[in-house]
Amino acid sequence: MPTATRKILVTNALPYANGPIHIGHMLGYIQADIWVRFQKLRGHECHYVCADDAHGTPIMLKAQQLGIAPEQMIADMNQAHQADFADFHVAFDHYHSTHSDENRELAELIYTRLRDAGHIKTKTIEQLYDPQQEMFLPDRFVKGTCPKCGAEDQYGDNCDVCGATYAPTELKNPKSAVSGATPELRQSEHYFFDLPAFEQMLKEWTRSGSLQDEMANKLNEWFESGLQMWDISRDAPYFGFEIPDAPGKYFYVWLDAPIGYMGSFKHYCQTTGKANFDDYWQLDSQAELYHFIGKDIIYFHSLFWPAMLKGASFRQPTNVWAHGFITVNGTKMSKSKGTFVMARTYLDHLDPDYLRYYFAAKLTNRIDDLDLNLTDFAQRVNADLVGKVVNIASRCAGFISKKFDGKLAASISDTSLLDEFQAAAAGIAQAYEKREFSKAMRDIMALADKANFYIAEQEPWQLIKDPSKQAQVHEICSIGINLFRLLMIYLTPVVPALATRVQEFLNDEFSWDSHQQLLTDHTISPFKALLQRIDMEKVEAMIEDSKASATPAAAATSNGELERDPISAEINYDDFAKVDLRIALIANAEHVEGADKLLKLTLDLGGETRQVFAGIKSAYAPEQLIGQHTVMVANLAPRKMRFGLSEGMVLAAGPGGEELFILNPHAGAKPGMRVK
Ligand code: MSP
Ligand code: ZN
Repeated sequence: MPTATRKILVTNALPYANGPIHIGHMLGYIQADIWVRFQKLRGHECHYVCADDAHGTPIMLKAQQLGIAPEQMIADMNQAHQADFADFHVAFDHYHSTHSDENRELAELIYTRLRDAGHIKTKTIEQLYDPQQEMFLPDRFVKGTCPKCGAEDQYGDNCDVCGATYAPTELKNPKSAVSGATPELRQSEHYFFDLPAFEQMLKEWTRSGSLQDEMANKLNEWFESGLQMWDISRDAPYFGFEIPDAPGKYFYVWLDAPIGYMGSFKHYCQTTGKANFDDYWQLDSQAELYHFIGKDIIYFHSLFWPAMLKGASFRQPTNVWAHGFITVNGTKMSKSKGTFVMARTYLDHLDPDYLRYYFAAKLTNRIDDLDLNLTDFAQRVNADLVGKVVNIASRCAGFISKKFDGKLAASISDTSLLDEFQAAAAGIAQAYEKREFSKAMRDIMALADKANFYIAEQEPWQLIKDPSKQAQVHEICSIGINLFRLLMIYLTPVVPALATRVQEFLNDEFSWDSHQQLLTDHTISPFKALLQRIDMEKVEAMIEDSKASATPAAAATSNGELERDPISAEINYDDFAKVDLRIALIANAEHVEGADKLLKLTLDLGGETRQVFAGIKSAYAPEQLIGQHTVMVANLAPRKMRFGLSEGMVLAAGPGGEELFILNPHAGAKPGMRVK
């Protein structure tokens, strides 16, 4: 039933511009992309926009560390992010940056409206200041001793050891994580958004019944503990937008970040003319507006954001939909285990449709975490997509091309199974609509089982031997191809690249409604392999690659915390003495077949040689290394890697990529010498 065309705007949380996209991030972007593709396939007007979240202290400091202007860094990162999304088939209608003219104008407009309506207050607060770096320190940039349990080296907002939360001013023996200097207390005037003034309106929203249960529960907890004034200003130096009537004060990154949704959409409207900005954002807008976000940023999207919109006379979001976090093999993504996989590293080894399908097969509309178990991932994709769905086509297509000139039967007499497949569309559509993707995938795979059962039962490969049964074979295979086609229409939002290949194979163009017709008397192309099985070796290679490239800089953290690795826990001299560091001569260096990050080094320790795989290919060509002296850990237990045994480790420093430096001692230091 073609429903009336809806007007929908969809956003997904804006990734920080200080690090690459990883597969954890991808969950939300893929979830929203599937939903958007579904709406578009149904013929609705649906726009999907996003942007890089480019402001804030971590980004400013990261650019400083790299010795480049923040504008340069965010421009490079924006390109890298867009390439990652495009290659995962996440099809934004527009991808912008919060550091843009549109966003500045909208942030100023919203702030001014809030101020004029009396929702902005000022207050002088005391904060830790780094006298050496000449800046106020965000909580996460202060480290010291926990005031509750005495654990050392804890962040300024909470203790990892005892779980206490506190103000950074309560830390004992505080140190700036930027410079190491002892911070001092300084006063400064800050601007606050009056969140408590919106309590009534937010409570009504919570009771509207449309929020996810877990989200409504969270909100109720926050109401109980009381809403607080929200500090929206930061002092210079800060990378962001200066507050219009307050020189030297900047909007806190989280003020202009959600406004970035509007900024991106505005740019899209102005440059393409495909939508009208006001239709989607003005108070009485009839359009639907949905924000997909991760569970860690619910506070910002369910309290601050609706209140800001309300206070500035813009419409409310229709809904905010939160998803859980990704774990890999049952635990938090880990760099040392190689499960902190960057989007690009995944793409170097595997087809994005695999991950899209696996996420879809596990996603519900709840906020539960989702485990990416890599063995299950490979088995599931192989069993479902290759073994069930594509298999239907490969069992039928050969007969159609060889025996029937590539043409499907002119009519089908027994349509009972096809009727059932067509009738399933409504339920599957409803599951997509409600973001119950795992239910949609289950329903589709149950149908795929029926299709395979049907073909197995009919045994066209037997019938074909009997010249009198040719018409029957033609019908069976035409039914099979049509069943396959219906399943692929339903799967299009999830596996768009596979769906494109299938449409080429079928000489067809899918919309959701095309499930209502069957293909008869229609020529299809000769069958080519549509999807490879996942080879577990490729999954393993991806993990090895991720281990090799695990550097502190590789982590984009969800709360924008400091990316520099904190100084590790203290060790005593005996611990240190256990590490046998030696001067080594790099006797040989070569590329490793199939490894994107690794070089194979032959290290001469003055008589003894070692083979070491080092993740430094991004920074060095083999010929640059041969003949150099470097420092290695000589007594590290050998580690079996996919490419061979690694007998030690070379030391290197730097954020990663080209900026990775092996230690390079003076040539006077001879191979085998101990480093003390
Ligand atoms: N910049 C903010 C969002 C501003 S929105 C106005 C931010 N950025 S982020 O890069 O840290 O995260 C981007 C999205 O990825 C968020 O929705 C976050 O919840 C999500 N994820 C980050 N790590 C994730 C997992 N491991 N698993 C699933 N989603 C994760 O937050
Ligand atoms: Zn503690």
